[in-house]
Amino acid sequence: MKKIKIGIIGCGAIGTSLARIIEERLSEKFSIVAVCDACQEKAEALLRICRRAKILDAAHLIAASDLVVEAASAAVSYSIARRSLSAGKGILAMSIGGILGREKELISISRKTGARFLLPSGAICGLDGIRALSAVGISSLTLNTSKPPKALAGAAFFKTHKVDLAGIRKKTLIFSGHAAQAVRFFPQNINVVALLQLATGPRVKVKVQIWADPALRRNVHEIDVVSPAARLKISCENTASPDNPKTSYLAILSAAASLAGFSDAVRIGS
Ligand SMILES: NC(=O)c1ccc[n+]([C@@H]2O[C@H](COP(=O)([O-])OP(=O)(O)OC[C@H]3O[C@@H](n4cnc5c(N)ncnc54)[C@H](O)[C@@H]3O)[C@@H](O)[C@H]2O)c1
Repeated sequence: MKKIKIGIIGCGAIGTSLARIIEERLSEKFSIVAVCDACQEKAEALLRICRRAKILDAAHLIAASDLVVEAASAAVSYSIARRSLSAGKGILAMSIGGILGREKELISISRKTGARFLLPSGAICGLDGIRALSAVGISSLTLNTSKPPKALAGAAFFKTHKVDLAGIRKKTLIFSGHAAQAVRFFPQNINVVALLQLATGPRVKVKVQIWADPALRRNVHEIDVVSPAARLKISCENTASPDNPKTSYLAILSAAASLAGFSDAVRIGS
């Protein structure tokens, strides 16, 4: 079988761990042909794992790949997805916050060119059930995300809201609002919100509360979905990636599972 050529944009926690999984477990199906990072040293470090890959800029990487893995940032995920899909190349996007609100155009290009547009479940479970319920209507969806304070540090929110994260001694509500605001204020933390909003569609206003909890060692996402067909209570307690406290290890495993199922005739779960 011809291997699917993968290009990885973003050689940080997700890009590196995913590359390791592809090389160790999925190399019968995939071959990593190119990597790209805004930081040259990160790209060079990834070549130690992907020995047959080249360092290319984004345009050349897209041209050389069948499937582009975007694990860079919300600032570039939409543009990388649009350029990949327009060129007929598949895209597995991780920075979902940058795609929310512009997904219609990307879905339309994907349908026109036939290029696969993959949005893995990332740090949460239950998107299958939520998508299924959206067909009969969801009356409310609330996400409570709780993280250790250091996992929230650096978010855009703190430029306009003075919070002494290091001084927090007990579980503290940091933000309460809707999905679009949460994505804008916490772009590196809240891909989960964007995924939930994409799964429900724009008619449901996803409510979000973000908590800082110094007692936590894990990133916790609690999702409450109310619908005439079912009430879902989804709780995910994720260990962080050893390389990036903002990123859950489950997000990396979810991207790997998405790749593993990419060309598989069997699908478990909807
Ligand atoms: N979907 C999810 O559930 C989920 C979960 C965790 C993280 N994420 C998102 O995935 C992305 C990667 O996460 P991570 O933990 O690997 O982050 P990271 O900071 O460890 O790595 C990101 C890498 O991308 C590089 N980069 C940034 N902008 C770039 C650009 N324009 N071109 C090329 N390289 C660029 C950085 O130099 C860095 O090496 C982030 O946007 C993050 O928010 C999504």
